[in-house]
Amino acid sequence: MSKRPLLLTLFLFSLIFSSFAYCEQNILIFLGPPGAGKGVLCKKLSKESLIPHISTGEMLREEQANQNSPMAIELSEYIKEGQLVPDEMIVRILMRRINKPDCKNGFILDGFPRTLSQAHILEKSLPSQANLIVVNLKVDDATIVKRLLGRRICSKCQQPYHVDFFPPAKKGACDHCKNKLITRNDDCEVSIRNRLEIFKDQHGPIEDYYKNRHEWVEINAANPVESNYSTLLEKVNAVNLDFLIDFPDRQTH
Ligand code: AP5
Repeated sequence: MSKRPLLLTLFLFSLIFSSFAYCEQNILIFLGPPGAGKGVLCKKLSKESLIPHISTGEMLREEQANQNSPMAIELSEYIKEGQLVPDEMIVRILMRRINKPDCKNGFILDGFPRTLSQAHILEKSLPSQANLIVVNLKVDDATIVKRLLGRRICSKCQQPYHVDFFPPAKKGACDHCKNKLITRNDDCEVSIRNRLEIFKDQHGPIEDYYKNRHEWVEINAANPVESNYSTLLEKVNAVNLDFLIDFPDRQTH
């Protein structure tokens, strides 16, 4: 029998148990370069665990598509060029989302923080008993470029596909909602190079910051998705259980 159902059950049990026992917020933060597979893994995890997945990139693209949004034009310029959106804008959008009731017990963050200042803002905005696990995905540049140049996303639900690695069942249409697949306007070589440069500039300080404060899980994400996902469940589950054992006094709260 596959180890997957057992691992997922253990993972869910430990998250749910710690939420109820300590009224904690369980937060998973996914870090990694563009194309590392953050979106694919977070969507899968969220679907199976029912923990909300919050992707700042997806929220920005929704805002960008909203014709009534005063920020839409400004956002388009940043995103197309592969530049970071100013902290003030992204923080406003993120806070609006994480303050919704479905995030009360926790959430999965994809694409935030991307700067040390965003990490500081997030830390200050969370309750002191928040249980944070940071997942760091590592992939080489050549693999990233191949993944991003072949990516297509659903124009409605933003589910990612890949022309070679994950083609949809019907060419050009989303398997889930049947809407049209499109190429993101930042999935071109210039923007990919910019995003990679920015990631390399910003990631070191964020890594140092989190390694000293929270549980840190590293995954070689150049492997196939199924293998990455199994490793993710295994490592997060192990860290989460250790975390409970390391702090037995919390169990009395
Ligand atoms: P965002 O949408 O977050 O883009 P990104 O960080 O560049 O990340 P990607 O979505 O490109 O990569 P991913 O790791 O999610 O990969 P995916 O799973 O899709 O942000 C876009 C823009 O918004 C930013 O550039 C910035 O302007 C702005 N922004 C967002 N957050 C911000 C913030 N906090 N502050 C400021 N600005 C912000 O996978 C990629 C492809 O690979 C897919 O085709 C997939 O099918 C395929 N794939 C995935 N895993 C595998 C695998 N294991 N094997 C083979 N193929 C795979």
